[in-house]
Amino acid sequence: MNVSNASMSGRRTSYSATSKWLHWIVAIIVIGMIPAGIIMSKLPKGPEKLMIFGYHTEFGVLVLLLVIWRFLTRLGHGTPAPVATLSAFERIASTSATHLLYLLLLAMPLIGWLAVSALGGHIEFFGLFQLPALMPKNPAVGKILLAAHKIGGISILVLVSAHILAALYHGLVKHDGVFSRMWPGGEA
Ligand code: HEM
Repeated sequence: MNVSNASMSGRRTSYSATSKWLHWIVAIIVIGMIPAGIIMSKLPKGPEKLMIFGYHTEFGVLVLLLVIWRFLTRLGHGTPAPVATLSAFERIASTSATHLLYLLLLAMPLIGWLAVSALGGHIEFFGLFQLPALMPKNPAVGKILLAAHKIGGISILVLVSAHILAALYHGLVKHDGVFSRMWPGGEA
């Protein structure tokens, strides 16, 4: 069943194709970023740590750009109306979780970039160019920013896990159209 109250609100019933693709690309990168970040933080200094650090920072900055793009697409195309069968609790929970996830996905790369700048490190963007430092070197502030980045990482892990469980519940148990309207090729 795929019931929507879009007809009442005049809003679209599904996400735009761009929003769907951006959602899945960001999802895949972020799901890889979390274990990469944890492994990297546990490794001793050396070539492996440096290699993962390079990928982690480059893909992290890519997430920032893709999330800004997704946000602009959202502003331009709007979002579909909530599926009509959702309870008030489900609507409030999903809207709050989505907004919090957006906030974290913007904050995490920026905090990481600030931390690396404060620690005096450099960030390459896929060998194309070097990103400018966001702040002058200040190792004490860098350590605080890294701690904030770690707390953000734990929060994102919790939120992404809840998000995946909720999506699976809608897609596999409720079959209410919540999952399919975000799936590329799903309801348009
Ligand atoms: C969505 C984007 C990002 C996510 C989800 C993410 C996630 C994480 C996680 C989970 C950790 C491990 C924290 C710990 O256990 O100590 C970490 C560490 C780290 N991240 Fe990120 N990160 C992101 C973007 C970035 C960016 C853009 C940069 C820099 C430009 C960055 C720089 C770092 C650094 C320097 C560490 C610490 C490495 C160490 O302790 O040796 N991160 N990140």
